[in-house]
Amino acid sequence: MQTFSRIADLRQALQQKRAQGEKIAFVPTMGNLHEGHIALMQAAHTHAPTVVASVFVNRLQFGPGEDFDQYPRTLQEDQAKLAAAGVHLLFAPDERELYPEPQGYFVDPPELQHLLEGEFRPGHFRGVATVVLKLFNAVQPNVALFGKKDYQQLMLIRAMTRQLLLPIEIIGMDTVRAEDGLALSSRNSYLSPAERAEAPRLYRTLNELRAAILRDGTGAIEALTAAAQENLAQHGWKTDYLAVRQQSDLHPPSPDGAQKLVIVAASRLGSTRLIDNLEI
Ligand code: PAJ
Repeated sequence: MQTFSRIADLRQALQQKRAQGEKIAFVPTMGNLHEGHIALMQAAHTHAPTVVASVFVNRLQFGPGEDFDQYPRTLQEDQAKLAAAGVHLLFAPDERELYPEPQGYFVDPPELQHLLEGEFRPGHFRGVATVVLKLFNAVQPNVALFGKKDYQQLMLIRAMTRQLLLPIEIIGMDTVRAEDGLALSSRNSYLSPAERAEAPRLYRTLNELRAAILRDGTGAIEALTAAAQENLAQHGWKTDYLAVRQQSDLHPPSPDGAQKLVIVAASRLGSTRLIDNLEI
């Protein structure tokens, strides 16, 4: 695997691949890679002969007081994992390479950016969309893969790609979990042993809520959701949101009950904020 810190060098290497008619699959990450990321790399091989990953912790998508400084940076370990996963090229720029001048142009996503995650992390999705467009322009992939773990992010990137006519196919991949159900996340490393033991309750709660909705019907969603939140609170969780929404637009379910639904949640254990979701 070759690692590039400069856009010009990366482009030159990719130009050669393209000249040979090779399609390019791309997986952007912020590093500190786990099996969830690696599953995206492995899936990427089924979509194109050349697989490119990026590792870049994007300041623009972190709010003031969030964990930008603390975010684990483990490039050497990441390189070994990516090489083992058969990734061909790694793009790992520093901030000066990707933001050589103060960013003055942004991708400002529509209303969806202000819901749920966006309500608790103002500006987050503007930062995500902007860096993903920049990374897309640096790599110019044919296919890009994202995890459903970040459900709202995947929706926004799909919509951005469609509306801005980017010639890139977006693939969404299922969430990879630990054996006890906890969704793998770089932020899990912030959990103390006691918090790590408690953490699977989030996904368990989503599963119980789904089962209860299927049993009692959509008319019971409000009461069941409140009970689920209360259950988390009793075990020390501080919940930003736990909501049942339409898969199509993340709005509250329409009264006709015709829409497919998803349960989305963000909740904090101590100072660690975990997110998860479950389609119904
Ligand atoms: P990061 O959190 O590093 O995630 C990179 C990709 O891995 C995202 O598409 C995310 O949804 C996916 N992912 C994370 N945990 C996963 C899991 N347990 N199972 C499956 N996929 C998982 O998301 C970002 O970085 C950034 O916002 C980025 C898109 C790179 C822009 O900076």
